[in-house]
Amino acid sequence: MKTIVISNRKGGSAKTTTAVNIASGLAKHGSVLLLDLDTQGHASIGVGCEPDEKLGVHSIFEGATLSETFIPTVHKNLTLSPALSHFDVYEYADLRGILKNRFKREKIADFFDYCVIDTPPTFDALLKNSLEVADSVVIPFVPHHLGVVAVGQMLRALYKSAKAQERDIADVSILPVMYNPHINEHKESVEKVKTSFGGEKLLSPIGVDIKLAQQFESGKPIILDAKRSKGMKDYQQCVKEILQRV
Ligand SMILES: Nc1ncnc2c1ncn2[C@@H]1O[C@H](COP(=O)(O)OP(=O)(O)OP(=O)(O)O)[C@@H](O)[C@H]1O
Ligand SMILES: [Mg+2]
Repeated sequence: MKTIVISNRKGGSAKTTTAVNIASGLAKHGSVLLLDLDTQGHASIGVGCEPDEKLGVHSIFEGATLSETFIPTVHKNLTLSPALSHFDVYEYADLRGILKNRFKREKIADFFDYCVIDTPPTFDALLKNSLEVADSVVIPFVPHHLGVVAVGQMLRALYKSAKAQERDIADVSILPVMYNPHINEHKESVEKVKTSFGGEKLLSPIGVDIKLAQQFESGKPIILDAKRSKGMKDYQQCVKEILQRV
């Protein structure tokens, strides 16, 4: 199983949009587990479910097994562990290593080909737990100055986490989102990411497409649409590039 964590501490940088489309795109190539680690529960909504009030992925921090939180989705090959809406990470002193421990004890890798994790826009124990199991990290960013700054901050957080665990840093991909090639700042920001952090990390950009916002209403990720659209094509290309990397 390859575990792909979608993260950026900056809010509104299309983490969830990317997580649900990558998870659904990978589900055409194998069985996928989607973990909605953000208590907002938007990834759960994105695949046609709801954040749960009683049992969700965050229940593992309260003693549950990970497997008992699994629910099927209407989408083929896609299993969800939904967000537990009331969970408050700050009520707990030490949550280190719990997701990693569940993966190992429950042999999760034997049941899925891919695990995709949507994370909250904070550098908290939830994000740290997900980095502890990451083979690959995708950092979506909106291409403007603060977006580039946030990528640098996220990379530093990844190095810090890898050092604390005494392991190599996960494979990193940087994904420009809401990209408009006619806006100079967008082109310049992508160039800056290339020169500052390495062009080999860059994935092809995702353009602006209102359908990517509308898809949350239907609970059907755009990549599964019958009708081709710009957002669908961009995320198909993204999945293709991620498959080549993992
Ligand atoms: N390429 C796109 N084109 C148009 N709208 C987009 C695109 N990508 C994302 N959006 C919209 O931008 C908003 C933020 O996206 P999303 O919720 O995926 O970000 P996020 O990083 O998960 O946010 P948060 O930090 O709150 O978890 C949403 O309303 C989403 O529908
Ligand atoms: Mg989100």
